[in-house]
Amino acid sequence: MEQKVDIQICLGSSCFSRGNKLLVKVIEQYLNENNLRHLVHFHGAHCFSSCDKGPLMHINGKEYQELDEEKVLAVLNELFGQTFPNM
Ligand code: FES
Repeated sequence: MEQKVDIQICLGSSCFSRGNKLLVKVIEQYLNENNLRHLVHFHGAHCFSSCDKGPLMHINGKEYQELDEEKVLAVLNELFGQTFPNM
């Protein structure tokens, strides 16, 4: 069975107030619209201690920094386009 993609979004106060509050919704919506929920473990995380580079998230342990909506969507498109080409 394929391993789930692990998406951890930082919900520490800095990242949360600087954009992740919205990005949680953006990611949720993306997963729902593309029917990806069952393939992903999406969860919030405590501060990663890199607040100056936030807002940020980790996907399968890799850190993505200085996120905004456009950047998150680009990362997700690239990731899922490659992992699930027939999506
Ligand atoms: S609040 Fe996100 S890294 Fe600190």
